[in-house]
Amino acid sequence: MKPLFFFFPLLITAFAACVVEPELHPSPEPERMHAFSDTIDGKSVDLFLLRNENGMEVELSNYGATIVAIRTPDKNGKIEDVTLSYDNLTNLRAGKSYFGCVVGRFANRIGGAQFTLDGQEYTVPKNDGDNALHGGINSIDKQVWKARKMNDAVRFTIEIPDGANGYPGKMNVTVLYSLRIDNSLVIDYTATTDKTTVVNLTNHAYFNLSGDPSKQILDHVVKMRAKQFTPVDSSLIPSGELRDVKGTPFDFMNAKSIGTDIQQPDEQLLRGKGYDHNFVLNASNEEAAVEVVEPRSGRKMEVFTTQPGVQFYTGNFLNGTEKGRGTAYQFRTGFCLETQQFPDAPNQPNFPSAVLKAREQWKGQTIYRFSIQR
Ligand code: GLA
Repeated sequence: MKPLFFFFPLLITAFAACVVEPELHPSPEPERMHAFSDTIDGKSVDLFLLRNENGMEVELSNYGATIVAIRTPDKNGKIEDVTLSYDNLTNLRAGKSYFGCVVGRFANRIGGAQFTLDGQEYTVPKNDGDNALHGGINSIDKQVWKARKMNDAVRFTIEIPDGANGYPGKMNVTVLYSLRIDNSLVIDYTATTDKTTVVNLTNHAYFNLSGDPSKQILDHVVKMRAKQFTPVDSSLIPSGELRDVKGTPFDFMNAKSIGTDIQQPDEQLLRGKGYDHNFVLNASNEEAAVEVVEPRSGRKMEVFTTQPGVQFYTGNFLNGTEKGRGTAYQFRTGFCLETQQFPDAPNQPNFPSAVLKAREQWKGQTIYRFSIQR
């Protein structure tokens, strides 16, 4: 018989493995899983969980390729959801505010719901006054995507048929969500088409870093590397101008709280009912385009992106009709940082092109990185 000390190293290794190894296939809580699972048109809808060694968790649904929850620690180590989200798939399906989903094929607005491409005019559905918003009704945010779970990532794919919602070209979209050890949620997008089309893909997550979604987000401190923004008309369509933020309420070059200037009698703020504008990003690759800190919890979120713009939206249309997490989400209880091509790019010759040609691939990456600022 082997002496006991022979087994000690093995026991210690096994114990260490339990302590430091990431959980490769964590499962959502059974109740959450149940609330978010169903079969829609013969397609299975499931809830996926990513968890890293720090206890940060991200829940994802293949309905709309949606972020259902992001749980991160505050300065005392308390882990809470920092998104506005629903409690079940029924509410997610009925939702009208785009909580956490991927929007496309053309996120944000297209003025007059029409554009010309290669000399041909396209008309797309009007779902925001006279304009098209977020790809139209029943777009990819209201579809079941194919899903593949990997160790620290989930990949969602969808094929948008040629002509769906009036847009040309069969488009294949992939969205890969990965959770890193440094508390970064990395979102990689790719799109291909078989005909010239337009593309603008983003995630529409609403954040409230306090962890308490019944509180307004006005105390959150924002720093944005954007020297210009794109002013809009009364229906939130850009005029085409790139306006300097300097001397306006849109200047977040130096950190300031969202509430600092939001009440100013500024024409642009009045049109947006707050911030609901595209900012022209100037950050280099290594720099965060946007940094947000919620002082009481100490939670910080940095946004890195390859995209040229970001829609900073301060939840101005929230009015208590969307419910979840024990609350009815009220005016300005969440903010979005939708990294994107510029709104109405298909009609704006001065804006970066959002055209995607057959056999080309469009790629984008956005990272939301969470940490603590004491
Ligand atoms: C985007 C738009 C807003 C609003 C929300 C959804 O952020 O810019 O105007 O439509 O989506 O409510």
